[in-house]
Amino acid sequence: MQRTILITGGAGFIGSHVIRWFLEHYSGYRIVNFDLLTYAGNLENLRDVEHNEQYAFVKGDICSKEDVHKAFAKWQITDVIHLAAESHVDRSIHDPLSFVRTNILGTATLLNACREFWTDGGEHRFYHVSTDEVYGSLGADGLFTETSPYDPRSPYSASKASSDHLVRAYGHTYGVPFVISNCSNNYGSHQFPEKLIPLMINNMREGKPLPVYGKGDNVRDWLWVVDHARAIDAVFHKGILGETYNIGGYNEWKNLDLVHLLCDIVDEKLGRAAGTSRSLITFVTDRPGHDMRYAIDSAKISADLGWMPSVTFEEGLALTVDWYLANAEWLNHVTSGAYREYYDTMYTHRNDR
Ligand code: NAD
Ligand code: TYD
Repeated sequence: MQRTILITGGAGFIGSHVIRWFLEHYSGYRIVNFDLLTYAGNLENLRDVEHNEQYAFVKGDICSKEDVHKAFAKWQITDVIHLAAESHVDRSIHDPLSFVRTNILGTATLLNACREFWTDGGEHRFYHVSTDEVYGSLGADGLFTETSPYDPRSPYSASKASSDHLVRAYGHTYGVPFVISNCSNNYGSHQFPEKLIPLMINNMREGKPLPVYGKGDNVRDWLWVVDHARAIDAVFHKGILGETYNIGGYNEWKNLDLVHLLCDIVDEKLGRAAGTSRSLITFVTDRPGHDMRYAIDSAKISADLGWMPSVTFEEGLALTVDWYLANAEWLNHVTSGAYREYYDTMYTHRNDR
C-alpha cells in the first residue's frame, strides 16, 4: 500500500519545513498538504516544491467534516501528521474561541475521519504535533518530561492540551493509532513575524521599537525548526504507537539575553554601529498570565529514537537572521493586508508599544 500522508498546516512555519524534509528524504510517499491558508499559512513557503509530483495542495478547513472527508476519500489517506492550529499565545488571549474551534474541534474532526476511513486493517498513524506549553510553567529548576502533569495556563496551551487528550482518548476508545510529540519553541526561516525571533529581526530591519514583555526575564528553550522536522521524521517512522516524545534543544535563553544577541548579530550583518539595534529595545506591559520558564528533557527521544539537534544555536541563529535579511519581500508581503490591520489593533491599544 502506498503511504499517502495528509500533512495539516503544511503552509505554515513548521509544516512547510516538514513537507520539504519529507519530499527530500522519502521518494515513495505522496504528501497532501491540507491547509486553510489563514494569515499564518502561505504557499510562498513551498514554492520550491509545488511542482514535485509527489506533492499536492488541498485548501480546506480541519473543522469542516466535508472538507476533511473529501480529502481522505480522494487521496486515500493512510497517515496524518497534524500541525494545523492557531499557534500564537498573544492571539489566544485576544480571541480564545478561535483557538477552541481550530485546535479542539479541528483535531476531533480529523480523528473522526481516521475512525471512519481506517477500517481496512492496514497500517495507519495519526501523529499529533504538540507543544511543551501543555505542561505549564517551570520555576528556576527542573525540566518537563513526558510524565510531567498537564497544567496549561493560556487559552493556546489549554486548547493544545485538550487536543492531546482527545488524541489519547480516541486511541483508547476507538483504537485510532497515534503518536504525540511535545516540542519547545522553534525558530528558523518562514516563521510568521509575530513570534519573538522573527518579530524582533523584522523590527530591527525597519528601525522600529523592540517590545520586550515585562523585564525580559522569562526563559524559553529554542530549537531550530529543521531539527524539529528531523525529530518528526524519527517519531513518525520509529515512534511506538500510543507513546509521547518530548523534543527540545537543551538551549535555554532569557528573552532579554536573546534579544541582545539578536541585536548584535543583526547590527554586524547590516554593518551598523554596535548598539544601534539595542537602542530600540522597549520594555512593555507584560503578557497576562505569562509563563515564566519552559525547558524540555529530551532524553527519551534521544535514547529510544537516536535523535539529537544537528546545529548549535549560534549556527541556527546565523542561518535564520541571514534568511530574514535576504527575504525582505516575504516579510513585507506577510505583514501587509489583514495581518497589518490585526497587528495595529492588537498593538495600538497598548499605548506603550
Ligand atoms: P503556524 O501558525 O505557522 O501555522 C499554522 C498553519 O495551520 C497555517 O498554515 C494555517 O493556515 C493552518 N491552519 C490554521 N487553521 C486551520 C484550519 N482550520 N484548517 C486548516 N489549516 C489551518 O504554526 P507553527 O508554528 O508552524 O506550528 C505548527 C504546529 O506545531 C502547531 O500545532 C503548534 O501548536 C505546534 N508547535 C509549534 C511550536 C512553535 O514554536 N512554533 C512549538 C511546538 C509545537
Ligand atoms: P513567543 O514567540 O510568542 O512564543 P511563546 O509565547 O509561545 O513562548 O514568545 C516567546 C517569548 O518572548 C515569550 O516569553 C514572550 C516574549 N515576547 C516578547 O517579550 N515580546 C514580543 O514581542 C513577543 C512576540 C514575545
